[in-house]
Formats: sequence, structure tokens, C-alpha cells
Amino acid sequence: MSSSDPLLVLGGGLMGLAMAHQLARRGRPVMVISRRRSEAAGFVAAGMLAPHAEGLGGALLRLGQRSLAAYPSWVAQIEADGGLNCGLRPCGIVVPFTSAAARDAHPTAAYGQALDRAGLEQELPGIGTSFQAGLLFEQDGQIDNRRQLMRALELACSALGVQFQEGAEVLALESGSSGQLEAVKLRTAEGELQTLACGEAVLACGAWSAQLLPQLPIFPVKGQMLSLQAPQRALGRVVFGPGTYLVPREDGLVVVGATSEAEAGFSEGLTPQGQRTLQEGIAALLPQASQWPPMERWWGFRPCTPDEGPLLGPSSIAGLWLASGHHRNGVLLAPVTAELLAAEICSARGQGKAASAADQQLLAAFRWDRF
Ligand code: GLY
Repeated sequence: MSSSDPLLVLGGGLMGLAMAHQLARRGRPVMVISRRRSEAAGFVAAGMLAPHAEGLGGALLRLGQRSLAAYPSWVAQIEADGGLNCGLRPCGIVVPFTSAAARDAHPTAAYGQALDRAGLEQELPGIGTSFQAGLLFEQDGQIDNRRQLMRALELACSALGVQFQEGAEVLALESGSSGQLEAVKLRTAEGELQTLACGEAVLACGAWSAQLLPQLPIFPVKGQMLSLQAPQRALGRVVFGPGTYLVPREDGLVVVGATSEAEAGFSEGLTPQGQRTLQEGIAALLPQASQWPPMERWWGFRPCTPDEGPLLGPSSIAGLWLASGHHRNGVLLAPVTAELLAAEICSARGQGKAASAADQQLLAAFRWDRF
């Protein structure tokens, strides 16, 4: 292993790309090892930026708010480095409730604007009749992760010299008697077994992370989704209903999510029950949307942890850093994860500016061994 060996980022999904980008921006040589890009949660998620609409609490809410605030400058960096637009849309999110009491009990109600039925109808003409109240979070929004952000990040990484090893599956991590990471074993796209020497790596394998490091409490929670083609501007804001949400893109495509199936494990594919649940959710939330033509259907695996917060920072193997376990909030938390963790990784080597004391404290709340 030599000091010029690149830092390896294990996982080419949103978190892996975001880490590679921030590390490369800080002058680190980086190689991303990616098994199958299409399974990355970054291509599956709806792209909601919703710490308030999703009612996060405690340190996870603070992390989400910190990330939401970082979004515009993070996106500006990606767009400047790679030249592609990321599709950030600060359009606000409306959360409908069946009663004013349910609305007022929402954990983040204090951050939103309370709506009665008339206010809800004004925001969302045609909203289902079972909803009598709502909260408008103007500060929440969305990004077009599937069609724009992932591609933009990939280009930004390439422009900064990040290397990619596509179709390669990491099989094992090798550490020495001192507990220091020494190498990763992988199978290349051509089926060749390789050992890559490396003293430093970032584990960003999403729902599959525990397959490499079994002590990590990360498990898959399957989500099925679909998209509809609405008339352009039929929906101005994201609608985050109970169990179903509608995320309208600029061109009228509406992404609809999502089932939450912990019991499904890694079982692949759509199911009639999952698709029925989404259709019923659409009909209850916005009846007219049941008439909009369906475009695509897909599924993916959220990387969940026991407290639904991510695992960030050092691991039990010296030199192996964790950026995984973001569950429902990977798209939201990408900027804060990448910026704070890249600063920590570089400053641990005496390179670059360390994160502020407040940011370090925030990261420390998400250590893998907190449970
Ligand atoms: N954040 C939405 C979801 O995971 O379905």
C-alpha cells in the first residue's frame, strides 16, 4: 500500500458518489467501486427533501435541517463541477390530515403553516374529502434524483478525476492484526478475483452494508413506487399523505411512493398487493390522479437501522468510514453526510479544515455503536 493509493468508496449510489465528490474536491484521489448502479437507492427514491413533512425528531431532525440548508450550495458545486443541472425544486410540501387534532399532533407542526379544509383545497385543488386539515412546509422541497442528480454527480466526480470500477462486487474487507484496513477483495465485472490494497475506504453500500461488516445493524426495507404523467402544473407542491406521497416534477411527471415492507427482506420485484396499496393511496389522496396514465413501476431497498438514523463516521476497522443506513432520508441527508464526513476524513490526516465543533457533535450522534 502506498500513500498515493486512492481512497476506495465502496458503493456507487448516491452516498458513494456524494462522498467521492466531496473527497475529490478536497484533493483526495478516489476510486468508486460499484456493483450495479440500477439498484442504488438514489435511483429509486422520490427525492423528497422533507425533514419537516416527514416529522423527524431529535438529532435526526437537526441533521436533516442542517442538510436542507446545505442543499443549494451543494447543488451549485455539483452543477459547476460537472455542468449538468441537478433538478432542485424548492416547491414546498403539504401534509394533509383527517382532523385538526391530528395536524396539531404532528411532531414538526411548529415549523409549518396550519391549513384548514379551505386552505388545503386552495393548495391542493381536488384533495380527497377525508382530509380536513393540513400543514404547509414551504421550506421543504424535492430534487429530481432519478433523472438529474445522480447523473450530475457522476459527471462532477469524473470531472474531478474520480476513477470508477463498474460492475465490481466487493467480497470482503481485509484488516491487519492492528485492526487497520489493508485491502478489499473484489470480483471484477469480468469475473476476475482481485485484491486492492487500501488503507482508507468509505463503506456506502446502502442496504447491503452489513454483508461486508456484519456487526452493522442495517437491514433492508423494501419500497415499491410508480410514476404518473399528469398535465403540466396540475400539482405545484409535493403532497405527503399517510402512506402515499406524490412528487410532481417540473415537466408533469409525478413520482408516487411508496410501500414500506420490512418483512420482504431482499425479495425483488413488484407485487400485486404493493401496487394495489399505491393505487388505493392515490385514489384517497387525490382522486383525479387515478386518471393520470402510469409511466413506470419500480422497487428498491431502503437501508434501515434500529432508530432509523444513519451510521456515520469511523467503524470498528481503522481507516474504514461509514456513510450508510439513511433509511427514508438518503436524498435529504446526502449533502450533510458528504460534507461533514469528507471534512472529518481529511482533517484526521491533517488535510483541510475540520468541521465545526457543532457539526462534529452532530456527526457523533450517528456513530455506528450508539445502540
Ligand atoms: N422518504 C420517503 C420514503 O422513503 O419512502
